[in-house]
Amino acid sequence: MNREELKLGKIDGMDLKELAKEFGTPLYIYSKKQLEENVLAYQKGFLDPYERTRVAFASKAFSCKALYQLMAQRGIGLDVVSGGEIFTAKQAKIPMETLEFNGNNKEKWEIELALEEGIGLFIVDSLEELYFLEKIAKEKGKVAKILFRLKPNVETDTHAHMSTGHSRSKFGISRKDFLKAWEFSQKSKEMEFRGIHIHVGSQLKENTSVLAGLKNIFSLLEEGGEKVLSSIKEINLGGGLGISYVEGEKSISVEEFYKEPMKQIEEFFQKHKKIRPWISIEPGRSLVGEAGITLYEVGTIKEEESQTFMAVNGGMSDNLRVALYGAKYEALAVNKSGEEKTVQIVGKCCETGDVLIQKAKLPEMERGDLLVILATGAYHYSMANNYNKNPIPPVICVEDGKAEIWVKGQTMEELIQREQ
Ligand code: LLP
Repeated sequence: MNREELKLGKIDGMDLKELAKEFGTPLYIYSKKQLEENVLAYQKGFLDPYERTRVAFASKAFSCKALYQLMAQRGIGLDVVSGGEIFTAKQAKIPMETLEFNGNNKEKWEIELALEEGIGLFIVDSLEELYFLEKIAKEKGKVAKILFRLKPNVETDTHAHMSTGHSRSKFGISRKDFLKAWEFSQKSKEMEFRGIHIHVGSQLKENTSVLAGLKNIFSLLEEGGEKVLSSIKEINLGGGLGISYVEGEKSISVEEFYKEPMKQIEEFFQKHKKIRPWISIEPGRSLVGEAGITLYEVGTIKEEESQTFMAVNGGMSDNLRVALYGAKYEALAVNKSGEEKTVQIVGKCCETGDVLIQKAKLPEMERGDLLVILATGAYHYSMANNYNKNPIPPVICVEDGKAEIWVKGQTMEELIQREQ
């Protein structure tokens, strides 16, 4: 995102004031150019340099039909975690074989839907789920391609809520259950075992925990012996590549992140005289996070002795990440300049924790001014909620001076539509 352009009130040739007038605020705005650059980074840093590789977008980061289509058109598959995401993909006419189904508690109806629609891959999260999936597949006369999500048993240097690879995590099959699950899958007619999956965590700044996880998984595969090793047709490394939320925040390139894991996987299979299996990944945040911003209007500015509160017309209903993870953001004032002062940017929700930025440096602003918060493209719209009956904002995508509505904003009527 071009900060200077945004400060001057522009994004990809569009005027932010005009967009606010046309679509209202808060407004989620995506840059098509930036989305395409993000996809290209995976193409150049992962798909092009290595054969037999696949990328699926972790759609929990931003789920809507238009984005699913954009990804599909560029050869990116889809990682889904619910019946709702499968339904959205179907409505967007995404080829179902490009879907992979993650999640620690796939419900019966979701598994049935996935089997009926012929999704590409089930990522099985427990031994119990394996038996459950087989039972449903048998009833339906279907065969499910499966990966086992394994607990890599590693700690990750990220927020505790985003660390998923440790042994205490609710996700994944534990070491002790792996061989049992593998043997079951070999005997079952309904289960087509393809390989394994690990996901160590999210918003990672380096690949050390992925490497540590791989090491643990390699030893598990070796324990399984020749038959297990030969049966691995695919290894899915999950997602996790971090992004930069504030200016200067360290992030790592796709190329750098995957270089060493790919080398180590290659060497491991070479050592065992096997062809390296397919390697798939499922990034979410890094494909969309920095391609999105939120445009707000400034409301009440309260000057207290100790600090200045600047309220915007959104908050934890459109950005839950600050309250959930203490996430840090950067704000830019639109069409304002001058001496900067420190303000606390707060939302409008009735909750003390509804703070968007603790200490933002901004020029003098007044009610009605526009303000942008950067890097809100991942896990914002998808975690938006109706707290305080605030409507979920619209999502638009801009490209070369044109704006396309991806999701309409909720109306007041829609807020009570389901009420009796
Ligand atoms: N694969 C699996 C199995 C996952 O659990 C996740 C994220 C991903 C892929 C995608 O990870 P990414 O590339 O986006 O880091 N709501 C949080 C993040 C929770 C992520 C959950 N799983 C946030 O707002 O930061």
